[in-house]
Amino acid sequence: MAKTIIISNRLPVQLQIENGHITATPSVGGLATGMKSVHSGSDSLWIGWSGLTKENIPKELEPKIDKALREHGCSKVSLTEEEIEGFYFGFSNRTIWPLFHYFLEYSEFESASWETFKAVNQKFADAILKNSKDDDVIWVHDYQLMLVPEMVKAKRPNAAIGFFLHVPFPSYEIFRTLPWRKEILRGLLGADLIGFHTYDYERHFLSSVRRLLGLEVSFNEINVDDRVIKVDSFPMGIDYKKFSNAAKVHQKNTTENQSELQRRLNVHKESTPDAKLILSIDRLDYSKGIAKRLKAFEYFLNKFPEYKEKVRLIILAVPSRSNVPQYQLLKKEIDELVGRINGEFSTVSWTPIWYFYRSMPFENLIDLYTSSDIALLTPIRDGMNLVAKEYIATRTDKTGVLILSEMAGSANEMNESLLINPNNFDQIADALIQAINMPKEEQMARNTILQKRLERYNVEKWANDFMKSLLEQRETTHQYISKLLSNKTLDSVIEQYHASKRKLLFLDYDGTLSGFHMDPQKAGPDEKLYDLLDQINAQENTDVYLISGRDTGTFNRWFLHKKYNMIAEHGVWLSKEGEDFTLLEQIKNDWMPKIKPILESFVDRTPGSFIEEKNFSLAWHYRNTDPDFGKKRAAELTTVLTSLIANDNLTVLSGNKVLEIKSSGVNKGRAAVKMLAENDYDFIFAIGDDWTDEYMFEELPDDAITVKVGMQKTQAKYYVENTKRVRELLLRFIK
Ligand code: ADP
Ligand code: G6P
Repeated sequence: MAKTIIISNRLPVQLQIENGHITATPSVGGLATGMKSVHSGSDSLWIGWSGLTKENIPKELEPKIDKALREHGCSKVSLTEEEIEGFYFGFSNRTIWPLFHYFLEYSEFESASWETFKAVNQKFADAILKNSKDDDVIWVHDYQLMLVPEMVKAKRPNAAIGFFLHVPFPSYEIFRTLPWRKEILRGLLGADLIGFHTYDYERHFLSSVRRLLGLEVSFNEINVDDRVIKVDSFPMGIDYKKFSNAAKVHQKNTTENQSELQRRLNVHKESTPDAKLILSIDRLDYSKGIAKRLKAFEYFLNKFPEYKEKVRLIILAVPSRSNVPQYQLLKKEIDELVGRINGEFSTVSWTPIWYFYRSMPFENLIDLYTSSDIALLTPIRDGMNLVAKEYIATRTDKTGVLILSEMAGSANEMNESLLINPNNFDQIADALIQAINMPKEEQMARNTILQKRLERYNVEKWANDFMKSLLEQRETTHQYISKLLSNKTLDSVIEQYHASKRKLLFLDYDGTLSGFHMDPQKAGPDEKLYDLLDQINAQENTDVYLISGRDTGTFNRWFLHKKYNMIAEHGVWLSKEGEDFTLLEQIKNDWMPKIKPILESFVDRTPGSFIEEKNFSLAWHYRNTDPDFGKKRAAELTTVLTSLIANDNLTVLSGNKVLEIKSSGVNKGRAAVKMLAENDYDFIFAIGDDWTDEYMFEELPDDAITVKVGMQKTQAKYYVENTKRVRELLLRFIK
């Protein structure tokens, strides 16, 4: 049976060796806690790092370690201390983590750690290949393993590979500062589906793909040669039932079976019954804004001194990545801040901040969640923040107020909480006042909506949605693959060609015979292309037409001396065997002076765009513009033109980075059909790459061989990957 292979750096359990005994503790962090709920030992295998380095594991304990992991449905990737240093503490957490959280000044760009990162990603990829079968579904997680999808795809092209990023994907302006930005993007594009927590991260990623790799993105799909990659957002949920049930059980606890922590919390609650407990839980990480939160709390106590002795802030910080200098500095800063604020404000009976620096068992987390009146979560940047969701899920009586940073991914789905900007202390202080004084009915009304949403879109639904989408994507790719002009089909096409009596070939120029160029005039034919066309044109009983949107002037310069048949301006002009172009259609161009000024105003406002003026059409090219901006302007221009030309029998054609305004009804399809009527053809072939060629594919008879260049939606029967392949294919026509 097919399995799901989950791969992440951190496994859901961390192993320790004490006196020759192996113990396993649950991992903290959103990825491990969330995915743990969807990982079931029999249907999935989780591959990752055990938390121990190779040097830590005595040879004789190795089998025991593997067994302990197997019991959790896990398999380990062995990493040496040096590898952990370069890959984990180095590139992952000193380069990518700060950069992706917009802490540009903390990011270190070191080639040595990049090299280790690549080598360790290869180790993970090899472990996947070793531990999985062809039909298994592979799900790679997070920023530590961004090169893995490409590495697996290279060896196993038919595997379904999903990738999910648990951290923000930064804007292009930030991402482009990374020296290895293209390698990272290419690594990710090995996946068939790439998921993010929010639409913003998705949009940032697509923008980087367009700008840095120059790839075509249509809506949320990216075409790379013979593959279509889907990019989408899936906001991660929590195991709602686990938290709400634990809270229900917790409520029923009698004094005897309450935890030590709960008893201490009770004492404090009972000593000042109207005092409010404010909770914050995070890994000790600069992205979580813990230091700012402490300062904001101090600001609150100064601004509203009447709340002294009436509130207490509980800070639970879990030790994290303590080998990284920035984390050590942060720890020191927080220790000092807590000391200073407590020193300044404490009274005989009250300390404003309780600070825990440790991991806690699940039961204690529930103690804290259920005992706190307010959760104050103020990350400066956070991919999602599951703690916010967990707090709400444990509020079984629906009371409690969540104050949440707008910069957390979860803020997108938690509008009913009090959203704050973590840098605005006044706003935080005011939100605290609002939370402290919020009537119970209002708390319940807000939490009812939040709970419903969290219960519905829980982590299981999240994982199922992702998987469903990944499998659908694989199907789509298979459909495309079935259209790929295979060597076998090509053999039979060529056989048919040679067996036919009268043959007709239509060849589009740009994007088919020749690749695109920043300056269209520079995309002229090379010697090899002339040679190829000469030979095809010389084939017996074969009529070849170059069919293009190009103007007659350009085609005259490039091809008239070759005496090829040519159809120019999308079917307006015809030139046969070296004769001058004549009109194939009786059409007007008196509309051009009216439309040109509109195009000019778009050129003025869209750097890099320009107008191409043909005899009977006007084209606005935007290949050299900023890709996002150009696309936006093209949509705007289409809207402006469509309303203007409605009564003029004109049409706007959307080609490859070009909009063309021309007479309606004139197109390559109509021109091709006219040529078809000139003889009794028993072999018809057409090849082209863009939207304007679809008219040909549509109009030609059913038995015509129609071929699209590039993997896109098409009416053509087949497709080929790129212009290089087109030339290889055409060579086969030559006897
Ligand atoms: P991140 O993934 O950046 O650490 P999240 O808020 O998304 O942040 O996830 C943190 C996860 O770690 C939550 O599921 C939370 O319950 C768990 N966690 C946080 N603090 C502790 C702690 N002190 N002890 C145990 N688990 C913790
Ligand atoms: C975040 C990351 C995870 C990581 C977790 C804990 O949630 O997205 O990939 O596992 O933090 O960090 P750690 O470095 O301890 O694995």
